[in-house]
Amino acid sequence: MNLKEKLDVEKLPKHIAIIMDGNGRWAKEKGEDRLFGHYSGVESVRNIVEGCAELGIGYLTLYAFSTENWDRPKDEVTGLMELLVETIKQEVSTLNKNNIKLHVIGNTKLLPSSAQKELIDACMATKANTGLNLIMALSYSSRWEITEAVKKIAQEVKEKKLDPKNITSEVLEQHLCTTHFPDPELMIRTSGEYRISNFLLYQLAYSELYFTDTLWPDFRKENLYQAIFDYQNRERRFGKTSEQILNK
Ligand code: IPE
Ligand code: IPE
Ligand code: MG
Repeated sequence: MNLKEKLDVEKLPKHIAIIMDGNGRWAKEKGEDRLFGHYSGVESVRNIVEGCAELGIGYLTLYAFSTENWDRPKDEVTGLMELLVETIKQEVSTLNKNNIKLHVIGNTKLLPSSAQKELIDACMATKANTGLNLIMALSYSSRWEITEAVKKIAQEVKEKKLDPKNITSEVLEQHLCTTHFPDPELMIRTSGEYRISNFLLYQLAYSELYFTDTLWPDFRKENLYQAIFDYQNRERRFGKTSEQILNK
């Protein structure tokens, strides 16, 4: 029996978030330029998006470029932006064919205008799709997102639209970029790094974390199934005791 058949279809996560890491090291191992690693990583994106759509996963968030990544060498940043524009252009028809709706979270105002335009067009073109929601985190960081949310809330208080007494976790969530998406039940990070790197700090509060040494350009559906299988064999207690969970 292959891994996919071993998955419990009743217990699939609704939302999977992935920190796609290790492109640079993958390229270095091959004696290639870091950008070659990023270009190769696109094939993994295609494969995993397809894998999630086939399983009927509702939401897939991919961390593609962080606020901190702007500090990388100029050539790498430029190359990544070109790759982004090229990939989106190419993939829109496949997204539509597979009923996938594209969303973007992050400070997209910092992206080159060509990338902003492609992203807006691609989101518009896939707007009516009802299958997988593919959320690209671009120029994203959680501290940026939370700071923006606090600014908006403060403004509403200043304008007397919101009483500070009524600021609840729900109000904060409504001001995050992820307000329309459920929290991820499963977060995967590739490349053997054990950190969150400013990704969905609020939303990952109760996510199951899965770390693998596999570098992103080598990550394929089988690796995804392995992560989901691992997730399905965990006990999610949410602060309760094991007995409370089992007697439910
Ligand atoms: C992840 O791979 C892609 C981005 C952060 C854009 P890296 O480029 O971080 O690869 P490593 O971690 O240097 O191997
Ligand atoms: C995190 O990877 C960001 C993305 C995958 C887009 P990094 O490679 O930038 O993370 P750090 O800096 O090593 O933590
Ligand atoms: Mg990295």
